[in-house]
Amino acid sequence: MAITPHFLDELRSRVPVSDVVGKRVKLAKKGREFSGLCPFHSEKTPSFTVNDDKAFYHCFGCGAHGDVIRFVTETEGLTFPEAVAKLAGMAGLSVPQATPEERRRAERAKSLQDACEAALGFFRRRLNEPAGADALAYLRRRGLKPETIEAFRLGWAPDGRAALKQALTGEGFQEAMLVEAGLLIKPEDGGESYDRFRGRVIFPIADRRGRVIAFGGRALGDVQPKYLNSPETPLFNKGRLLYALDKARQAVRDGADVIVTEGYTDVIALHQAGFGGAVAPLGTALTESQIEELWRLAPGPVLCFDGDEAGRRAAGRALDRLLPRLVPGKTARFVFLPEGEDPDSFVSLSGPEAFGRLVERATSVSEALWRRVAGTQTIDSPEFALIVEKKIEDIVAQMAERSTQFYYRVFLKKRLFSVLWNKRDRTGKAKIIEMKSDAVPEENVSNAQKALVAALLNHPRLIREYGERLVEVNFVSSELERLLMDAILLHSHAEDIEPDVLKDLLRARDHEKTIANICNRKVYAVAPFADPACDPDMLEIAWKDALRRQNLISAAEELQQRLKRGLYREDDAEFARLTEFASDIARQAAAPEEAEPG
Ligand code: UTP
Ligand code: MN
Repeated sequence: MAITPHFLDELRSRVPVSDVVGKRVKLAKKGREFSGLCPFHSEKTPSFTVNDDKAFYHCFGCGAHGDVIRFVTETEGLTFPEAVAKLAGMAGLSVPQATPEERRRAERAKSLQDACEAALGFFRRRLNEPAGADALAYLRRRGLKPETIEAFRLGWAPDGRAALKQALTGEGFQEAMLVEAGLLIKPEDGGESYDRFRGRVIFPIADRRGRVIAFGGRALGDVQPKYLNSPETPLFNKGRLLYALDKARQAVRDGADVIVTEGYTDVIALHQAGFGGAVAPLGTALTESQIEELWRLAPGPVLCFDGDEAGRRAAGRALDRLLPRLVPGKTARFVFLPEGEDPDSFVSLSGPEAFGRLVERATSVSEALWRRVAGTQTIDSPEFALIVEKKIEDIVAQMAERSTQFYYRVFLKKRLFSVLWNKRDRTGKAKIIEMKSDAVPEENVSNAQKALVAALLNHPRLIREYGERLVEVNFVSSELERLLMDAILLHSHAEDIEPDVLKDLLRARDHEKTIANICNRKVYAVAPFADPACDPDMLEIAWKDALRRQNLISAAEELQQRLKRGLYREDDAEFARLTEFASDIARQAAAPEEAEPG
C-alpha cells in the first residue's frame, strides 16, 4: 500500500473535521463539540455533532458516523484514494509515492485500459459504417435515440474471427495484452487467438470514473448466449462494479433516485426516460460489494425485479444479502414489475410517468420482511402466530445493529398482533397498522403508563435492561410511544447518558410537552419509583412490578376487545365467563396502583 495507516493518522490530525464539515454545514460551537443540521438526513433541529478532539462526526438522528475522509467520500462521491488526495492537498502533505511494484501494476493496467479504449473506438466506428447498418437499425428499433447510442458509446463487433485483432495489432498492441484485456480468446490447445466479440452489439462497461474496462455484447438474432461479457481481467471485477455507475454518480448528485435493474438495456432505456440514477449488476445477482457501492450513492436504492417467480426469488436473495448490513441510514426499496415485463419494456409500453409511480410506491424493507414472515396464509391462531414470531426473531437475529433490530422487531410484532386480533384481514396484506389517535385526551393516559416512561428518562440505566419490554405495553398515547422509541434510540448511541442530557436531546425532538406531562409531581405521587430521587435499590423492583401490572392490563383489554368483537355469542355461557374473568384481571391488576404507599 502506498497510503499507510500512519499517513492516514497524520492526515486526520492535520485536518480538523470541523474545517471540512464546516464548508457544507453551518456549525455552532458547544463546549468541545460543534453541532449543526445533519447533511445525511433532513431535520429541523440539529442532531449532527463534530468532535475535533476525537476526529469524528456523529449524527444522533440517523447514526451517520465517520472521520474526515469518510465525510469527503460520503458527501462528494469520491473514492477513498481520491478523498485522501484531496485532503492531503488541503493539509499540504504529499501522498506517499507508490512502490515500484505498484507502479508496474498501474502501468500495465493503463496499457490494458488503452487496449480497451482502442477497442471501443473500433467498435463505435463499425456501428456507423454500412456493415453496421443492421445493428444500428436494431438499436433504433428498440427505441434508442441517436444521442443515447452516443452517450452510452454503443458499438458493433463485426462477424469476422480477427477483425478487432488485426485492427489493434495494427495499432501496435501486443497479442498477449489483448488476450489479457479479454478482447481475444487464446485456445488452450495453442491455436490462433481470435476475437471474443463477433457479430454482436457492443455495450461498453466503464469503471466508476467512466474509463472503459470491459464489454458486454448482445447477439442480434436468436444466438446463444444472448449476452456475452468480458471475462474477469486485472481491470474488470464483475462483482464490484455496476453498469453505468459513472453516469449514475453524477445524476444522483443532481437528485436522481438510484434504481437497480437487471439488464444493460433496462439501464439505457431508463436513462433515456429521465431516470439517470439507473445501474445494473453485470450479468450476475447483486453482490455484497455492489450493495455497499449502492449505499455510497444513496441511503435507499430502489431494486427492480420482474413480477414473475424468478423475480421474486431474486428479490428474496437481495433481501438476504441486505439484512446483515442494514444500519441506520442504510435501507432499500423494492419495485416489482408486472409479470413478463422488465423496466425497458415497461417504460416503452406504459411511459416514464407510470414507471415513476412504481418507484414512488416502492415496497419498503419492513413491508418486504412482513410479506416474508407472514406469507399468504391466514394468521388466525396462536399456533400460527408463534411460527411467524419465530421467523421474525430469526430475521431480526440476522441484523447486526441494535437499534435496527429493535425497530424491525417492534414493527413486525405489532403488525403480527394487529393481524391476529383483527377479524377482517388476517393475512395482513396491505393492511396499514392501526395508528393510535393523537386525540386521546391527556387525562385518559393513565399515570401508570406515564410513570413507566418517566422512570426510564429519570433513570436511563433502566433502558438497556428493560426498554424493549415496554414495547409490549399497549400505550394509549402515540406521543408517549414516540417519546419512548426516541429515548431508546438515543440511549443506544450513548449508553451512559445522563438523565438531563437525555431529556434535553428529547426536548430538541419535539417531546417537550410530553416530558412535562410525565415527569411531574402528580405522576411521582402515584408512582414513587418514577421520581428522580427514588432509592436505586427500590427502583428496579418497583418498576418491574409496574410493568407487570401494565402488561396484565393490556392483556385484559385485548381480551375484552376480542369478546366485544363477537367471537362468542352473547347468550353463550363462555361469553359471560370470559367477560367476567377479563374484568377481574383488569380490576386486580389496576387496584394496587392507587393503593401504592408513598
Ligand atoms: P435479460 O435476459 O433479462 O436481458 O438479462 P435484457 O437485459 O432484458 O436484454 P434484452 O432486452 O433481451 O436485450 C438481463 C441481464 O443478464 C445478463 C445481461 O447483463 C443482461 O443485461 N445476461 C443475460 C448475460 O450476461 N448473458 C445472457 O445470456 C443473458
Ligand atoms: Mn429486456
